[in-house]
Amino acid sequence: MPPETQQDTAEQSEDADTDERAVVRLLRSAYLEELETVMNYQTNAIVLDGVRAEEIKENLRADIQEELGHAEALGERLKQLGERPPGSAEFDAVQDSLQPPTDSTDVLAVIDGVLDAEGDAVSTYRELVEAAETAGDPVTEDLAVEILADEEAHRSEFRGFAKEYRSE
Ligand SMILES: [Fe+2]
Repeated sequence: MPPETQQDTAEQSEDADTDERAVVRLLRSAYLEELETVMNYQTNAIVLDGVRAEEIKENLRADIQEELGHAEALGERLKQLGERPPGSAEFDAVQDSLQPPTDSTDVLAVIDGVLDAEGDAVSTYRELVEAAETAGDPVTEDLAVEILADEEAHRSEFRGFAKEYRSE
């Protein structure tokens, strides 16, 4: 093999390593994102008060289970790749707008927080779909597409709630 081609091959395999590392990095950050979402949905499902809040609280409770399922699937995929999901020592909280509102009847504040969190999740999974495709990892790509579909459906549902609660 001529020296130039050898170098090309070495560069290609270095690129592949970088692509795989990007997939692992995104899987790990998505895992933590899901768990932060679980924490904030749980807190808001407890904190919110009033008749107008009931539908949102019920919806959040159902979504907690869905988001936990996402975290589990991401963690299992990391394990299959010879990696492991992070523990809380690696956790940095980012969901400022999803903190429980000072006024416990401010349902709209929670709805807006959920829309921000779902928007962030959609961006993460879009990025993961692309990174997995580049890395030649169709299994992770499929998983990311599947979770992306859930997040988009959830975001669309909360867009509907935002419309309804703003017009009241
Ligand atoms: Fe999720």
